[in-house]
Amino acid sequence: APWIVLLASSSLLLMLPRAASAVHRSDFPASFLFGTATSSYQIEGAYLEGNKSLSNWDVFTRLPGRIKDGSNGDIADDHYHRYEEDIELMHSLGVNAYRFSISWARILPKGRFGGVNPSGIDFYNKLIDSLLLKGIQPFVTLTHYDIPQELEDRYGAWLSSEIQYDFGHFADVCFGAFGDRVRYWSTFNEPNVAVQRGYMFGTYPPGRCSPPFGSCAHGDSGADPYAATHNMILSHATAVEIYKRKYQSKQKGSIGIVLFSTWYEPLRDVPDDRLATERALAFDAPWFLDPLVYGEYPPEMRQILGERLPSFSPEDRRKLQYKLDFIGVNHYTTLYVRDCMFSRCPLGQQTQHGMAVVTGERNGLPIGTPTAMPTFYVVPDGIEKMVTYIMMRYNNLPMFITENGYAQGGDSDTNVDDWLDDKGRIEYLESYLTKLAKVIRNGADVRGYFAWSVVDNFEWLFGYTLRFGLHYVDYKTQARTPKLSALWYKEFLQNLHEVQ
Ligand code: NOJ
Repeated sequence: APWIVLLASSSLLLMLPRAASAVHRSDFPASFLFGTATSSYQIEGAYLEGNKSLSNWDVFTRLPGRIKDGSNGDIADDHYHRYEEDIELMHSLGVNAYRFSISWARILPKGRFGGVNPSGIDFYNKLIDSLLLKGIQPFVTLTHYDIPQELEDRYGAWLSSEIQYDFGHFADVCFGAFGDRVRYWSTFNEPNVAVQRGYMFGTYPPGRCSPPFGSCAHGDSGADPYAATHNMILSHATAVEIYKRKYQSKQKGSIGIVLFSTWYEPLRDVPDDRLATERALAFDAPWFLDPLVYGEYPPEMRQILGERLPSFSPEDRRKLQYKLDFIGVNHYTTLYVRDCMFSRCPLGQQTQHGMAVVTGERNGLPIGTPTAMPTFYVVPDGIEKMVTYIMMRYNNLPMFITENGYAQGGDSDTNVDDWLDDKGRIEYLESYLTKLAKVIRNGADVRGYFAWSVVDNFEWLFGYTLRFGLHYVDYKTQARTPKLSALWYKEFLQNLHEVQ
């Protein structure tokens, strides 16, 4: 095999045979977007610079005991100052797209109760212009979990229908400032996760929990998760209406939403678990997608939750007619589902997944190779099944795989060379891309794929203890070093891998 020399770190010269691979760039359409993904809070740092206000995550990470290593995103990857270097990394990978999010608190530090912050606009203008100069399409998320704390303090953020006006205003400012150069917008990243963790279990901001899911200081009557979801759906609809009425014909972009999309398999091959699996699927992405595509919550949810699910008023329905142009799928893993509608549900799990319990193991055996992220297993078939499910349920609306990636774990003693030698990630990417190519061949309208992430970054509750990057970050020096997976992705994109 031809030999490739990779200068992986100053102390280490790795000689690698050029990899054989079961999947190639040429298995995907030429127009396909191949990129990497990040989010503002996880990489930017500079949390008080450029007149940015505090976000909900700036405040939340300061609460004792919330983040595994006690860390926060104050500095993170210092991407705010190093974005050019990061774009250079992406350019050298050969990607043609980059998915990132805008920090709402940089653009509108006081929400709609204050003005637009010129330094915030300036930062994203520079980022977008530098990307375009390198031939990289910006794929922009309006909110990836982080919102100005001001909105939380003033009116309880997502719990209030008032947030539609704030989100609409924020979206309008972004479309107006950046839309001449941005072709792809997502309103939300993983609102399903934000609600489950922020309003059911209380592990993400605003740290509220709801019976029967969790017990914490700010319990509610059980309605909050559904109210927050309702307001997110209407906020999405408000932003899409603004885009479609005011900008789309001029700017010619498209707008969608991104959901966390775990695939589920029945734990036992029995009807109860098969039905529970259908419910677990519907209680996840379709919770948001059914209203946006069909104007109603999933029937599977209505059946179980009844009036606990809000209904859409005539004005809500008018807004919902603007729908969405594409579905963003963040897919990492597959889990088993066991029925608990016809058996007993453990306390706290009754309705999150629709009277179903999810687990990664069957008879003590994991569903796939475990990764350093406790609930993420390597199950490549899952991406094919997930995409097929969304394709069938939503009549083959265009899709993007907006995230897919592999976590490495370790601690501060872990040797740099071990972080750089990420063969597990290469196997993960190769096997998932193989199944993605297959499902596209079979007719799924998937138009892009983003690897999470270009650099190691702040992994929410896990702080800096998990590393998802194609590039290793030394947080003391902020030096970035390509891991083996970066070389793999680069060669994949250049169609260099040998046919297996
Ligand atoms: C999905 C989230 O959007 C992202 O922020 C997170 O880092 C990855 N999953 C990995 O957990």
